[in-house]
Amino acid sequence: MISRFRGASSVLLAGSLACGDDGGAVSDASSGGSTLADTTGQTAASSSTGGETSTTDPSGDDGDALARYCGDESAAVEDQITAWLAELDVASKVAMMHGVGLLPSGGSWGVAGNAAAGIPGLHMLDGPRGVSKVSGVTATAFPVGMMRGATWDPVLEREVGAAMGREIRSVGSDVLLAPTMNLLRHPRWGRAQETYGEDTHHVGTMAVAFIEGVQSQNVIATAKHFAVNSIEDTRFDVDVTIDERSLHEIYLPHFRRAVQDADVGAVMSAYNSVNGLYCDINPTLLRDILGSEWGFAGFVMSDWVQGTHASVAAVRAGLDVEMPSGSHFGSLVGAVAQGDIDEAELDESLRGVLRAQLCFDLDTDPPQVDPDARETDEHLALAEEVARRGIVLVRNEGVLPLDRALLGEIVVMGPFADVENIGDDGSSTVMPASVVTALEGIVDRAGAVTVTHLPSVSPTASDELVIAGADAVVLVVGLGADDEGEGLVAAGDREGLSLSLPQLELIHAVAALGTPTIVVLEGGGPILVSDWIDEVAAVMIAWYPGMRGGNAVGDILFGDAEPSGRLPASVPVAEADLPLFDNVSLAVTYDYLHGYRYLDAMGVEAALPFGFGLSYTEFSYDELMLSESQVPASGTVLIASVDVTNVGTRRGRETVQLYVAVPGSTTMRSPRDLRGFAQVELDPGQSATVEIEVAMQDLRVWNAEAGGWDPLEPTDYLVQVGPSSATLPLQAQFSVSEGA
Ligand code: BGC
Repeated sequence: MISRFRGASSVLLAGSLACGDDGGAVSDASSGGSTLADTTGQTAASSSTGGETSTTDPSGDDGDALARYCGDESAAVEDQITAWLAELDVASKVAMMHGVGLLPSGGSWGVAGNAAAGIPGLHMLDGPRGVSKVSGVTATAFPVGMMRGATWDPVLEREVGAAMGREIRSVGSDVLLAPTMNLLRHPRWGRAQETYGEDTHHVGTMAVAFIEGVQSQNVIATAKHFAVNSIEDTRFDVDVTIDERSLHEIYLPHFRRAVQDADVGAVMSAYNSVNGLYCDINPTLLRDILGSEWGFAGFVMSDWVQGTHASVAAVRAGLDVEMPSGSHFGSLVGAVAQGDIDEAELDESLRGVLRAQLCFDLDTDPPQVDPDARETDEHLALAEEVARRGIVLVRNEGVLPLDRALLGEIVVMGPFADVENIGDDGSSTVMPASVVTALEGIVDRAGAVTVTHLPSVSPTASDELVIAGADAVVLVVGLGADDEGEGLVAAGDREGLSLSLPQLELIHAVAALGTPTIVVLEGGGPILVSDWIDEVAAVMIAWYPGMRGGNAVGDILFGDAEPSGRLPASVPVAEADLPLFDNVSLAVTYDYLHGYRYLDAMGVEAALPFGFGLSYTEFSYDELMLSESQVPASGTVLIASVDVTNVGTRRGRETVQLYVAVPGSTTMRSPRDLRGFAQVELDPGQSATVEIEVAMQDLRVWNAEAGGWDPLEPTDYLVQVGPSSATLPLQAQFSVSEGA
């Protein structure tokens, strides 16, 4: 029996968990052919929920979880670890449970191995948008996580993960400190750019894909920051009070999927505390949920420097590795000598650390330094493709795509037009060899069209003449590294959701000149648009689009690529429409609702709803069908299918979104929740049947009193399908029958 699985405290009924996933498939309606369009590659496992409350027992037993994590080698790996643990002394063990020093050396943050025993150790490096700058080398700067979230394409995200895995190995690292997968509870969060969006299903799907990609390269991915971490300015000290339902139904399912669907190698505990206990010394989070309920078989590391608050208490709570040094864990040698902790408890922690090293073949397939593996043509092309796919067109009054044949001159202006604006200055910073700015990309794609760059902050009299004489003006505005980023090491949380006053004035002044105005909005998350959007002809959100992002902006502007990005977070009309963002108090409360779920519950319309985005073509939705109209309480999945037709004149890619509402529920629920999505790319006039899988586990309610999941509520469920959370033209119903 492997002791890694820390005593389940609240299992009332064992059963296996239905894994949430998208499983979207598309078949061409005309040909009857069937191709996978958007799937995490996961299938839902069977679930035996019976009629009783159950915790999610993910793995059946320890052996299953180990086999999932390690494959066929699992038994041999456990034997090897047992042999090592018998052989090594306490000091050698403790040395493998903390980082070797505050600063990275040789390009990575190290955790010792043991050369004599043949244990390789760990070499860690950020992060979420590519090989971190602290490596000292140049690397591909991918679009930030939020932009990748806007692609809604897990297949593409898996490729990004694999590319980052290859680049991380090329600097001699074997642990990638990514993905950041905390929900964007509020767009003022300074690290909004690092995550994928505001919704647990969407974030989970993208994170699973990324982790699978990274780990396909024998690189350990790190799901961070566990958990409920989404404020920067008080990040080291804030205590988040959260009720059990919000925690289990909203803030944790995406982490569960990282563990159970993607077998993530490592988890990083968050700086903040949750319900009165810092995450690194929080046995509820680490030991009970991550370990016992989910069967996590890898290791938990702390966040850096201020992320460890104890030695013995942390190990007992489930923290395995203190990073980046041993300021607390160094004392574990003495703690064992004094009888404060048993060596066997260290062994339990260390087992996860060693398992990761062996299961990811760090002993037999260590990373090799290889400068040629970074910024390869393939990786640069991927970064550019992701940028094209992540741009979200949110307004187009007939001006886009620009037709080169009809244009003489366009003007490009705005504070970010000729600036390398690829993200914050925090731990996720990447140093690419070069960056294509928006201006450069537009010039490159303009062909014979004259592009005039006006560098002024506000238009001068002569600028006004140039603008009035041009066919269109592109304003590149938004946020930069001075406006948002990681706390303390970078700019921290945003001060508000609006553009700066000078930028607002620029938009008003330029739009008033009458030349069609196209706004390119850069930044890590939602920016208010309601003050000015009606004055301009088009708006595209370009986030922080990575080192080739300018080309993507040019491609979408001139119609060399079709816009297909969709918003991964709602843009409210005003900040007052959202729950309070308090980055001053040291005690905050997170509730059940945020993002589109909060806006819907309040009956407040978003300026730009979650899931929204325009294409240069249009799609129609017909024939929503469900695989079942009656689902037993023990049901695990349901398949919805819908016919989508491209009714416009250009090829395009649609993201079909499926939401579930439970209007007759006896429990408070969100008006609707995203429960699946899939993509389809269609020529004009072409139709396809898109299939989306709904995991019944996602519809269950956490019962705080019983400490487990209730069986599926016996009531009617509405499946709503359409192109965004606010436009759901099709609806179908299924019922869950009691006790079946
Ligand atoms: C961040 C982590 C990061 C670590 C190492 C911390 O401050 O919160 O996300 O991985 O530093 O750079």
